[in-house]
Amino acid sequence: MSALDPTGLGAQRLPGRVALVTGGLRGIGLACVERFLAEGAEVVLTDLEDPGTDYATETLDRLGQAASYVQANVTSEDDWQAVRDAVAERHGRLHVLVNNAGIDLTGAVASLSMEGWRKIMAINVDGVFLGVRTFVPLMEQSGAEVRGGASIINVSSIMGLVGMSEVAGYNASKGAVRMFTKSIALEFAEKRMPIRANSLHPGFVVTPLLQAGFQRWVDSGVADKPQDLVDMGSQKTPIGRLADPSELAGAAFFLASSDSSYMTGAELVIDGGWTAQ
Ligand SMILES: NC(=O)c1ccc[n+]([C@@H]2O[C@H](COP(=O)([O-])OP(=O)(O)OC[C@H]3O[C@@H](n4cnc5c(N)ncnc54)[C@H](O)[C@@H]3O)[C@@H](O)[C@H]2O)c1
Repeated sequence: MSALDPTGLGAQRLPGRVALVTGGLRGIGLACVERFLAEGAEVVLTDLEDPGTDYATETLDRLGQAASYVQANVTSEDDWQAVRDAVAERHGRLHVLVNNAGIDLTGAVASLSMEGWRKIMAINVDGVFLGVRTFVPLMEQSGAEVRGGASIINVSSIMGLVGMSEVAGYNASKGAVRMFTKSIALEFAEKRMPIRANSLHPGFVVTPLLQAGFQRWVDSGVADKPQDLVDMGSQKTPIGRLADPSELAGAAFFLASSDSSYMTGAELVIDGGWTAQ
């Protein structure tokens, strides 16, 4: 197996498809971009970062010609129009939309600021709504070209399925993504539009988001060092470890491909058994 042949089966499974991944420069989003490219798709990624930074330049160079980047904030309607224009101009179609960009928010509910609450809802919930609203017309056209139709993958979390103490804002935002996804899935199915929509529910995945969150817990005195939280999270996860972003990308690839052609309105949980307990 190699980066260009992640399944070891030899054949690419997404040639001719165009995918868009928000928050695609890091973590789970970047892993999805890499997997879709390896499967032969053309990929547009968006993120907050200026493409001229060293990190963005190096990452985009490494991803190669089949990838293109649009700097865009998922909370901005204007930015979404710019993304739509860029996708329309470069590809004229879109088969896969991964609404992945997201942030977290922790703390006792009485300590949360209105500003923090509005920010997480704007990015995690409004961002998903705007992505879907912007691309439904193009995906409806493009979905007719592929078996199983176009695929919307909204990244929720296990925190959209079960609650956790001092995670109220994040829980609320990810629960909203879960139900929003079911509603649009039913709407598209009822209207026989060739678009499926499913939510993806990662458990604890080692990404910059998780690492920053662990550092905040350390700073607030919950643990001595981040590794203690990695160990604690691993012990509480039935499979005994945290996830690698590529393991979420594998699930996103399944939802993007025709192999999931009969799947819509569903929740794909990739959590090492966390919510089975
Ligand atoms: N890491 C986990 O353990 C975990 C678990 C469950 C769900 N998730 C979800 O997975 C998604 C990706 O998480 P991650 O861990 O890879 O995060 P990450 O912080 O490592 O990467 C997220 C990317 O999104 C970008 N982003 C943030 N706000 C944005 C905005 N307003 N507009 C555009 N881009 C923006 C960031 O710049 C970053 O590049 C999020 O929705 C997160 O809630 C993560």
